[in-house]
Amino acid sequence: MDLLKDVLFNQVAVIELETKANEYKKLVEKYTKEFNSLPAKSLKYARLDRERQVNDKLYMLLKTKYQESRISEASKMSNVRIVDPAIPPEEPVKPNKRLNLILGLLVGLFLGVGIAFIREYFDRSVKTAEELQSYGLSAVAIVPEIDVKTALERFQKISRDPESEEPLKARLVTHYDPKSSVAEAYRTLRTNIQFSSPDKPIKTLVISSAGPGEGKSTTVANLAITFANLGKKTVLIDADLRKPILHKVFDMQRDPGLTHAIIGSHAIDDVVKKTEIDNLSIITCGEIPPNPSELLASYKLSSILGELREKYDVVLFDSPPVIAVTDATILSTVTDGILLVVRANKTDTRALQRAVELLSHVKCNVLGAVLNGVSVSGGYGSYYYYYHYYYYYGDGHRKKKRAKRKKRETRAY
Ligand SMILES: Nc1ncnc2c1ncn2[C@@H]1O[C@H](COP(=O)(O)OP(=O)(O)O)[C@@H](O)[C@H]1O
Ligand SMILES: [Mg+2]
Repeated sequence: MDLLKDVLFNQVAVIELETKANEYKKLVEKYTKEFNSLPAKSLKYARLDRERQVNDKLYMLLKTKYQESRISEASKMSNVRIVDPAIPPEEPVKPNKRLNLILGLLVGLFLGVGIAFIREYFDRSVKTAEELQSYGLSAVAIVPEIDVKTALERFQKISRDPESEEPLKARLVTHYDPKSSVAEAYRTLRTNIQFSSPDKPIKTLVISSAGPGEGKSTTVANLAITFANLGKKTVLIDADLRKPILHKVFDMQRDPGLTHAIIGSHAIDDVVKKTEIDNLSIITCGEIPPNPSELLASYKLSSILGELREKYDVVLFDSPPVIAVTDATILSTVTDGILLVVRANKTDTRALQRAVELLSHVKCNVLGAVLNGVSVSGGYGSYYYYYHYYYYYGDGHRKKKRAKRKKRETRAY
């Protein structure tokens, strides 16, 4: 029994072990199978592993480079720091308009003042009546500048000849425009001459100037008209034997004239010509001689003058400039006085000084000077107006005007 039992037991064990063996066989088969597929996988693995190694190396290389570049970057930037970020300006930096404007203004101002100073420094012309006094000349009158255009219009109206283009005749503003301020100035001149020496009235007078073109002929012609207008028998003599002009101004024949009377070819009455103005006569210059100074210095001229003195209340002489020739100086010794015409802003102070010096060498009576051609619109205009009103209103207004004048003068200078 025991044996059977052992057999049975062993049989069961065999079956059990066979089953196990089968199971193991299956496992072996499975593993064999798996094992057989291993070479392909290992190949793939080996390939991938190589790839990994390469990538590993590449990665390491790149990382090294990156770190290197970071280090070099950090080392370069080491001494540079942004302390304060830049702020972009809202307005353009250049051009600085305000600065340029101020600079321009200053430069312009200095330039203007500088030029004014330089001009003033080099301008040696006489400008004011006060300047005349520094040469020992009293300002007998101040004659404003004649507005030639207006004077010509007036002349054309009165002469009833609208086509007339004679600026020469238009100079006689005292006749054609007696109400003008220029005529008023000439009347002032007349008044001042009359009152310059009340005891011994000026009957014979020479008008001259330092240089040419200062207004001798214009002044003497207008002065003669104002004397004639006053009812004085006046004779105007063109003793500028070098550049005679009065015959043209009064529209007359030049011959016969003064030179004819001096050389004795004509009697004095034959050379005196009446004008359209009452009480005014003219002696034109006559033939222009080669030796005017000798003729004027002749005894004959003195006797002619004596004769004219008898017949006329006022005898006026136009003459050449004092500096150029001696004619005016000679005449001044035989007449009651000499008046110098000074053209404002034109007459050179040195020339005027020389003229005064030349006249001081002879025995003559220098009445003073007429400041001619003073600009009315300019700074000195106000100065002239003072004179204008002064004589126009007479005594009653003098004080008021004098006060006003002082104010104006302080403003003008
Ligand atoms: N007050 C004045 N205003 C404007 N022009 C004047 C004045 N006086 C003179 N003139 C002008 O000056 C120029 C010279 O004048 P003129 O009397 O012939 O001078 P002169 O006889 O001294 O040579 C002329 O053209 C004249 O018209
Ligand atoms: Mg003249």
